[in-house]
Amino acid sequence: MKYVTLPAGEQAPALGMGAWMIGENRSSRAEEIAALRHGIELGMTLVDTAEMYGEGASERLVGEAIRGRRERVFLVSKVYPHHAGRKEMPAACEGSLKRLGVDCLDLYLLHWRGSVPLAETVETFDRLRTQGKIRHWGVSNLDTGDMRALCALPDGGRVATDQVLYNLSRRGVEWDLLPWCEERKIPLMAYSPVEQGRLLRHSGLRALAEELGVTAARLALAWLLRRGQLIAIPKASSRAHVEENFAALECPLDDATLAELDRLFPPPCRAAPLEML
Ligand SMILES: NC(=O)c1ccc[n+]([C@@H]2O[C@H](COP(=O)([O-])OP(=O)(O)OC[C@H]3O[C@@H](n4cnc5c(N)ncnc54)[C@H](OP(=O)(O)O)[C@@H]3O)[C@@H](O)[C@H]2O)c1
Repeated sequence: MKYVTLPAGEQAPALGMGAWMIGENRSSRAEEIAALRHGIELGMTLVDTAEMYGEGASERLVGEAIRGRRERVFLVSKVYPHHAGRKEMPAACEGSLKRLGVDCLDLYLLHWRGSVPLAETVETFDRLRTQGKIRHWGVSNLDTGDMRALCALPDGGRVATDQVLYNLSRRGVEWDLLPWCEERKIPLMAYSPVEQGRLLRHSGLRALAEELGVTAARLALAWLLRRGQLIAIPKASSRAHVEENFAALECPLDDATLAELDRLFPPPCRAAPLEML
């Protein structure tokens, strides 16, 4: 496994697993659990979920998948913006811990910015941290302006990551957010790294992957993972997809391949609002 260093100095896996839209269908439950367990065995031990996903169904499934393996997993969950205040967050966190069957989250993220002041959210995250309910906290879907405001707050500099939409077909963050985070050594966490599967149907990407003798998923993930301080969290609900995604850690990308990817998916040439799914 490749690792990134969090601002607090701890290492976290650069390739993890997402858990949106899992745990919602009884018939696929066993396969989803087996896929997550297989990924953990391979070393993709960072697992990303949220109280929002299936209104707790994803956290319950992840809890079942990690039972007996808790100490090997870097567990990430997210709080709804309307639960991000000092009164609501402790109960929301307890709910996530209970559904996951754990005493502590490794990373707790604000899912997106809502109406609760960031200062109140940071203060509450920090209280949960000192109480041992969470080990690190971070944010999701915050743009560069939001990140500047966050980092200007007392303790705001403790932010461990910003989880944002980033993949070959969504390169807007390269304009400002990514360099801004890189400069401050805050790892970005790329969600929907294969654009929920849509990227894998791109004819140009498929042709290039075929030429290189790899799959489109492997190439798209390798392109993200070539960055030193980036975490990618593809969601896969089968062992075969998990294995293919894991193989992205070993997928050489030479200059010609990178240039062809830039031709197929041009980098941004101006600032644009942060995209979200
Ligand atoms: N913070 C946020 O606002 C936010 C928003 C979106 C997502 N997320 C997080 O990011 C995670 C990943 O994003 P995502 O689930 O939206 O999309 P994604 O990971 O880009 O794509 C998942 C889709 O791609 C398929 N897939 C995965 N690996 C594949 C492979 N090797 N070959 C072929 N198909 C493959 C999956 O199919 P199978 O399931 O059939 O394997 C699934 O349909 C989420 O699960 C969630 O944890 C966060």
